[in-house]
Amino acid sequence: MEKEKINYEKIEEIVSELRLEEKVAMVHAAGLFRSGNVERLGIPSLYMSDGPMGVRNEFPNASWVPVGNSDDYVTYLPSISALACTWNRELAYEEGNVLGKEARGRGKDIILAPGINIVRSPLGGRNFEYMSEDPYLTAQLAVPYIKGVQENDVAACVKHFAVNSQETERLNVDVVIDERAVREIYLPAFEAAVKEGNSYSIMSAYNKLWGLHCSHNKWLLRDVLEKEWGYDGVLVSDWSAISNTKLAAEAGMDIEMSVTDNFDEYFFANPLIKAVKEGEVKEELIDEKVRKILKLMYRLNIFSEDRKSGEYNSSESRQKTLDIAREAVVLLKNEENVLPLSKKVKKVAVIGENANIRHSEGGGSAEVKSLYEVTPLMGIKMLLGGNAEVSYAKGYTHDLNERESVKEEAIELAKNSDIVIFVGGLKHTKEDFSLFQNALHSSKEENMVINIDSEGNDKTDMKLPYKQDEIINSLLEVNPNTVVVITAGSPVDMSSWVNNCKALVNVSYNGMEGGRALAEVLFGEVNPSGKLTVTIPKKLEDSPAHSIGEFPGGEKVRYDEGIFVGYRYFVTNNIEPQFEFGHGLSYTEFKYEDIRVNVIEEKDEINTEVSFNLINIGDRKGYEIAQLYINDVESSSKRPTLELKGFEKVSLLPGESKKVTIKLDKKAFAFYSEDEKSWIVEPGEFNILVGSSCIKINLEECINIKSKYKF
Ligand code: BGC
Repeated sequence: MEKEKINYEKIEEIVSELRLEEKVAMVHAAGLFRSGNVERLGIPSLYMSDGPMGVRNEFPNASWVPVGNSDDYVTYLPSISALACTWNRELAYEEGNVLGKEARGRGKDIILAPGINIVRSPLGGRNFEYMSEDPYLTAQLAVPYIKGVQENDVAACVKHFAVNSQETERLNVDVVIDERAVREIYLPAFEAAVKEGNSYSIMSAYNKLWGLHCSHNKWLLRDVLEKEWGYDGVLVSDWSAISNTKLAAEAGMDIEMSVTDNFDEYFFANPLIKAVKEGEVKEELIDEKVRKILKLMYRLNIFSEDRKSGEYNSSESRQKTLDIAREAVVLLKNEENVLPLSKKVKKVAVIGENANIRHSEGGGSAEVKSLYEVTPLMGIKMLLGGNAEVSYAKGYTHDLNERESVKEEAIELAKNSDIVIFVGGLKHTKEDFSLFQNALHSSKEENMVINIDSEGNDKTDMKLPYKQDEIINSLLEVNPNTVVVITAGSPVDMSSWVNNCKALVNVSYNGMEGGRALAEVLFGEVNPSGKLTVTIPKKLEDSPAHSIGEFPGGEKVRYDEGIFVGYRYFVTNNIEPQFEFGHGLSYTEFKYEDIRVNVIEEKDEINTEVSFNLINIGDRKGYEIAQLYINDVESSSKRPTLELKGFEKVSLLPGESKKVTIKLDKKAFAFYSEDEKSWIVEPGEFNILVGSSCIKINLEECINIKSKYKF
């Protein structure tokens, strides 16, 4: 069907008619968020917009001061990190679909999302824009997301290709890493985005890989992306990621985007015309780029009368954000079944700044002008109605002079309430961003604990800012009925209070309906079903990027932990995390039984079918996310004790039992051998492990693979 859409003959005709200057106009920006057009031949600009949490506000063609009209408020979707906690492929599709529909509704051709880089350290500034520390989970959610976007005649632009897991020195940092880790950890989600998601565009990352900027890196863009994976979409540079005309042109970049308004001086503008005229760059290379751009235009039905028109701010889209937000809430701890709380409660204290602020309008390019945002405080009040007295106190603040009084006020309120809901964590408002900038230039230690989830900076440590640990401990002391809610796009250090609290909920930036979803979970209208997609370590030093590798490094950053990222490291080295990858509780309980594994080796493939029964043994309807890990019993190469290779999210009524089947192919058993430059499956024993997290393994079965596979 796609072939029919693309008029290859017409593309050739256009390419032959275009003058060099016109072709060059198409391969660089003519505005901060659009490529150049060719009026003479009716070739339009490609209009682009950020980003993962919704379609960003409108900018003038050549200025970063927003237009400021009232017509660009949109649906604010759960951040990518929140979406991932649902472990729900259908919801990933829905989120992409809402985003694509709204992008089209706002007249865009390319939406700069999703972010699919690997979360390598708890300190990564943009962790909230990424899915997980695990490549398989990221790939599984990225593919339906991309399909959801592109169904609306809008291109997804998966970013940032590749090995882009930090913000410090982001324009130039050189990643020193072994090829095996690149292949096993940092590339698989991009490969799936290309081969299964058919992502029409990809954004090249700022950083260097092995000494070369990603946008100039032939190995990455030509050898892997184009030749190995067969990518035929458009490669868009991150904004100012190109710094050399010839290198970027030859490496395969198609459109240069940047941050300044001297569009004619971009590397792919006048300097490119000059390079072609002087014989430095072949004109065929420009033709190749133009062909790809035209092909994208056909794929998006740009020349057709039937192009979808999109829409934004529909009530259906808001309902979808609520569906996603409900499943994104992760219940980490619930001793003595403190949760769900009773709706008959009389006096509720809601404490903490994150209960009462908006998160949508911050974080960098992912910022969104949200039509509205239900805060946790509003969500709780909306749910309880007029019979409960819900009072709010800030509890903590960045203002050193007010810190004591704000704390005292909260403690008084807590003492006089039936229950306390503390909502703290991290944030990324514009105000915090400037505080952070100031702190970086200040020598006062006190200021340095300002930590925000934002593009452009990594965090300085994992601690909760503004002495939140103190207030949490005080609240737990004065009122044992205190529920702790952490809202953050990255793991935070919970060690000083986690053992004192009975109920703990973790949630990332959860969209415009996030506060409602949280209240529904706290008061039992929704049974929580999210699970962690990133390990929460007890302390920062336990993280492999810090204990073995470097983070954030200097001019270079060494990824010496290699493939041992996240749980792969914790489980293999028996390091106890605070909360492990894949963990998340429900108000009901599940039982796993009767694992059966069937392996058939034929025609160079290992067809494996794993089935087991999942039973809801509690008294509430709920979802369980059953996870399948493999363990290579003996390998010539060091492998992690566990690697996620399958999962299913299953809905079960009380007492209900369902048979779950997960299929695996040879890739599930393979590792990348640098010596053989191939994926290898070695014959021998493999354990198939099924459980509710990477530590809670409920079923186990050993299989034997007879042959060696190399691919
Ligand atoms: C970010 C991208 C973003 C682009 C356009 C860059 O600074 O890294 O993720 O899409 O700006 O706003």
